[in-house]
Order: sequence, then structure tokens, then C-alpha cells
Amino acid sequence: METPTMKPDTVLILDFGSQYTHLITRRIRSLNVFSLVISGTSSLKSITSYNPKVVILSGGPHSVHALDAPSFPDGFIEWAESNGVHVLGICYGLQLIVQKLGGVVVEGESKEYGKMEIEVKGKSEIFGSESGGDKQMVWMSHGDEAVKLPQGFEVVAQSAQGAVAALENRERKIYGLQYHPEVTHSPRGMETLKHFLFDVCGVSADWKMEDLMEEEIKVINKTVASDEHVICALSGGVDSTVAATLVHKAIGDRLHCIFVDNGLLRFKEQERVMDTFERDLHLPVTCVDASEQFLSQLKGVVDPETKRKIIGKEFINIFDQFAQELEKKHGKKPAFLVQGTLYPDVIESCPPPGTDRTHSHTIKSHHNVGGLPKDMKLKLIEPLKLLFKDEVRELGKILNVPVGFLKRHPFPGPGLAVRVLGDVTQGNALEVLRQASLSKILTAKHRQQPSHVDEIFIQSIRDAGLYDSIWQAFAVFLPVRSVGVQGDKRTHSHVVALRAVTSQDGMTADWYNFEHKFLDDVSRKICNSVQGVNRVVQDITSKPPSTIEWE
Ligand code: XMP
Repeated sequence: METPTMKPDTVLILDFGSQYTHLITRRIRSLNVFSLVISGTSSLKSITSYNPKVVILSGGPHSVHALDAPSFPDGFIEWAESNGVHVLGICYGLQLIVQKLGGVVVEGESKEYGKMEIEVKGKSEIFGSESGGDKQMVWMSHGDEAVKLPQGFEVVAQSAQGAVAALENRERKIYGLQYHPEVTHSPRGMETLKHFLFDVCGVSADWKMEDLMEEEIKVINKTVASDEHVICALSGGVDSTVAATLVHKAIGDRLHCIFVDNGLLRFKEQERVMDTFERDLHLPVTCVDASEQFLSQLKGVVDPETKRKIIGKEFINIFDQFAQELEKKHGKKPAFLVQGTLYPDVIESCPPPGTDRTHSHTIKSHHNVGGLPKDMKLKLIEPLKLLFKDEVRELGKILNVPVGFLKRHPFPGPGLAVRVLGDVTQGNALEVLRQASLSKILTAKHRQQPSHVDEIFIQSIRDAGLYDSIWQAFAVFLPVRSVGVQGDKRTHSHVVALRAVTSQDGMTADWYNFEHKFLDDVSRKICNSVQGVNRVVQDITSKPPSTIEWE
């Protein structure tokens, strides 16, 4: 599928592997300026194809002296100069400019890491003509330093240790910041970026989510001929829902969505998501109840990878069947598949030299449930592939996806199969997590309360106003029994674990530190109302070393 034609001014970031590269993009987008990241070693042809107004060279973990130090392509600076494109190097990017244009970079005597004061020298363009003598705190993270600037360049800020903190060559429109203006530890960094983009480079703040939506709709309509059909598997998650809603707005009921109840869904999940799809979004969704099919295949299976593979295969069978039925009905096989792929999944990163890694797409392959049968030959429509998660939520709001739905915690494709350890069909494991029958000791008042471990936990989190501060929370069923005393009787019952984490993107995570009273209340509620559970534990491991899910 083609990329939307970029009408707004574009700030292109060449990534040299800094952990902050994506943050620069997000900061710039927050100023309503369109920004994209590509690998720092992309070809000149690829760089120029974006027709950028500004190019930012990111930081990176390398030394410009390393044999395989990554760099922009030959001819890049000449192209930028002859096309009036402004270039800004940040940290490693600055050192690259200095070294490539004939200056000298050496290993610094005292490395600068962390907060550092800098002072602006004289008149400068990047800080503004009135800023001479200004002092500000910034975030440094470098070992090498520029000791001799290329001809025509000027030091416009110095660190308290006397190192070059910023430089510029106004005539050639080339600038450098040795520190990271994009991080919050550089409190005036955004002010500098804003001044640079709007006042120095003359970039217009003309990028709006509404425009991107209209542009995507045009592209979808151009891609999908008027007699063609498109399918989309909805997971109940934010990304697939927003992607489907957008495609539906473009091509109407030639979009055919499928939602599979695989018997591994949470309490009332099917009713809740189908309600949103039908009532709020008017999406044409076929709900397939395949719980028997999935659970019979999973009987006796304890190995996590085998479970995932079985589930993936069953999904494929169901999609295949769905496509065949659509072909019978419309006389034409669906030609396209909608996927909710996000920008972080497609960004090419520049890996550190010496790691033997080439630029690779960060694809969480095990997270794409199953893949697709080869002979389906579906072409992909990925309308969110330029967006970050929070931007998808913003787009979802414009498309009238209910805000409560947009804020839902992620739920994995294999569902409760990765939250019930071991054989999911053994005993009443799935029911303990989502459907335990009411305990006889409950009073009439309590009968209104949820009696499923996961639901009690999530409802308590909501009641405490914590839901939006947590990336993901859920209960895990452990296939072990322990001894307890309940209602004057000794019991030999199950243990459940509570997992709650904070995270930016699910790649790393910290466990959430609840107050003792909260945990005490949840544990009591669970043991008092869920039959078959007499012990509750909390998972206090981060990712890494653990993963978020238990299997
Ligand atoms: P892990 O357990 O790998 O999970 O730390 C990271 C994030 O990904 C979700 N996850 C999945 N999502 N299909 C999905 O759609 C999967 O197979 C899958 N496995 C994990 C997990 O819930 C967490 O948000």
C-alpha cells in the first residue's frame, strides 16, 4: 500500500541508534509538525524522496572513530545545502558533522554524562539573537568531544567544563547541539527546538490528525477498487478497532470484520467488544463462537509455545473459512487484509556497530497471532503504520471510538491461555479467572459484586482510580494447590497471582507498587468470593528479566 503524499513540512530524523531518537519525533509531532525516522545510513535517494525541510542527525552510542561508525551518505551535505535544507546534529550527530566537514573530534578527557550547565556565547541563531550570556541546565551523554570546528563554524554555547555545547554555520544552515534538547532533563530544550524549527527553519505547524485521516482515506480508496472486498480480524484491542473504523469510513460495508470467541476471552469480553463494534461504531462484524474448536485442540497441552502455535493455527483456519464464505456471497475473494501495525513496529533503527545486526524491523512476531495462510494472498492495508500509540488514541477519538475503549489495557491474542499456566482445560482454571460460581458464604448484598479473580482485581483498580496509570493488569491462574483455612474448614485450593505493570510500549516494564491496603482488600475479596482459591500472591518482577505475560 502506498504512503500518503506528504504535503506538510517534513522533519526527517536520521537515526544513529540513540535511545532518544523516537522521542525527538514525538516532540516534533507534538508541535503539529510532521516528522519521520529513517535509518542514519539510508541512501541519499531514500532521504531525498521524503523531500524534507529539515534533517536532524540523531545521537547514538558510537564513537565517530570506530571503524564501522555509521554515517549519512556521501553527497548528503551538498544536497542539503543546494536545496536550502537545514541540518541539525544532536550529540553523535554533531560530532559526525564536525568530523565529516574537516574538524577534529577526540575522546574527551572528562566525559559528560547527566545534568550540566551551559552558557550561550554571543549572538546565535539556534538560541535566538537575544540569548547571549544565557545559562541553562541540559542533559549531556557523550564521551567524545569536538575540539576543532570545521571552517566557517562557530561555537555558540559551552558547557561548564569548557566543552563545545552548540555550534552553527549560519550561511550553510548547519547546526549542532552536543546535548539532548528532547529530554525533560533539558528543561529549555523544547523552547530551543521550537525556535529552531519555526524561527530559524521556517517550518509550518500544519500537521493535524484530521488531515492525516483524510489523506489515509484517500489512499485506501485509491488502493481498493470499487468492487473489491477487505477483511479485518478484530481482537477487541485499540489498534485493530481504530484501523477497522478508519477503513470502514473509507470503503463502507465492503469491509468485513471478524471477531473470534476462542473460549479464552475474559469475563464478558465478547459482549463488551461486540457492543462497542455494533452500537458505537456500526462496524459490520461477524462473531464466530469457536470455543469448542480451540479448547479441544488445547486439551492436555502444557508447553507455552505449543499452545501459541495451536491457537495461531486455529485462527488461520477460521479466517480462511471466513474468506471462503465471503467469496461465495460476493462472487469475489477478499483481496485485502487490514492490520493495526503501528509506527514503532516499522521504524528501521540503526544498530550499534559490532553487534552484527543489520537494520531490522522491530517485529514482535510471536504477537501476531499465527500469520496468514500463504494461499490467501491478501495484500495488506496498514493505515496506522505512521502513528504512535497515543496518536492512534487521538485518531480513535476523532473517529468516535468511545474513550473508555481507547484506554483499555492490552489483551494478548492467545487470551487466557497465556494466563492459565499449564493445561487450560484442566479443572475449572478458566472459570476461576473469569466465571467462578458464587461461593455459598456470600450474602445477597455481595451477590452483585464480581466473583471472578480477574474482574475483582480490575474493578478494584478502577475503583481506586488507578486504571489509567497502569499499562496492564490481570490475574494469573497457577496450577498448584496450597493449604488454607476457610469457614473453619481446612482447604486445599488454588493460588492466583496478580500482575500489574507500568510501561511505555510493552518492551520493558516495571511492576506496579500498590498500597498495602489495596492489596489486602483485593486479596480478601478474592478469597471470600471465588470458590477454589485460598491464596493470592503478587508478581513483583520487572521486564526484563520476566515478560509481562506468564507464558
Ligand atoms: P510479553 O509477555 O512478551 O508481552 O512481555 C508484551 C506485551 O505484548 C502482549 N502480548 C501479546 N499480544 N499476541 C498479542 O496480541 C500475543 O501473542 C502476545 N503475547 C504478549 C502482552 O499482553 C503485553 O502487552
